[in-house]
Amino acid sequence: MRKKICAANWKMNKTSLEAIAFIEDFKKLLNFKTAVEVVIAPPFTSLEGASKSLKNSSIKLSSQNMHFEEKGAFTGEVSATMLKNVGCDYVILGHSERRHVFGETDDMIHKKIGQAIKHALSVIFCVGETLDEREHHKTFEVLERQLSLGLKGISKEALSQVVIAYEPVWAIGTGKIATPEQAEEAHKFIRKKVWDFYNMEVASQMSILYGGSVTAQNFSSVATQPNVDGALVGGASLEVKSFIEILKQMSYNFSGPS
Ligand code: PGA
Repeated sequence: MRKKICAANWKMNKTSLEAIAFIEDFKKLLNFKTAVEVVIAPPFTSLEGASKSLKNSSIKLSSQNMHFEEKGAFTGEVSATMLKNVGCDYVILGHSERRHVFGETDDMIHKKIGQAIKHALSVIFCVGETLDEREHHKTFEVLERQLSLGLKGISKEALSQVVIAYEPVWAIGTGKIATPEQAEEAHKFIRKKVWDFYNMEVASQMSILYGGSVTAQNFSSVATQPNVDGALVGGASLEVKSFIEILKQMSYNFSGPS
C-alpha cells in the first residue's frame, strides 16, 4: 500500500513560539486513529522549536528548502546536514514559489534532491504547470521535463525516499483547486512517467500528493481519485482546526470510518 500523507507547508508564517503553540494544540486534537502520515514544514527559524515539540510523536518534520552543497560560502543558505541535525525527516524541494519567485532551475532542484537523499532526508518533490502552460496545452510537457530532469540519475532504491507533489501553479493560493478530473489526469501521467523511468513496482509505490487551494471543504472529491495519495496544504494548514479537518477527511477517504 502506498503511503498516504497530509503535509502542511507554512511558507513564511509562524515564529518559533507560534509553531510550538500550533503543534501542542494539534497533538491534543489528534485523538483519532489515522493511517495518514502528517508532515509539518515550518520556516527555518521555527524548525528547532517544532522539532522539540514533535519529540515522541508520529508527526514528521520538514523543511521548505535547502541548498545542494555540503557547506561553505553560501550566505543565507541552509544545508542538508543542518536540517538533519535539527530533526528534519523531510525537505520540500522544487516548490513553485522557489522556481518562479526565486528562480530555481530544474538543474538546481535535481542537485538538491540528490543531496537530500545522500543525507537520508525524504523529499517532497513539487512539480506543476503555470496557467499559461496549461492554456497552451503544455501541462504534460512541463511535468515530463520537471520529472525527468529532477529525478535524473536517482536510483530506484533512492526513490523510496521521494514523494511527488503535483501543484498546478494556477491553483496555489488562488482558492481555485483543480477539478478531480484535472488532478487525476496529472497524477496518472506522473505515475506513468515514473513507470517509464523506473518500473511498475516503483511507480505503484510512489505517493503522489496534490497541492493548490486544498481545504477540508473542497478536497474530498480530489482525495478519492485513484492516483491521489494525499495533500500538500498551504493556507488551510495555518489554523489547527482547518488542518485537522483535512486530516480527518483524508483518514476517512483513504481508510473509511475508524
Ligand atoms: P495553498 O498552497 O494551499 O495555499 O494553495 C499550497 C502550496 O503552495 O504548497
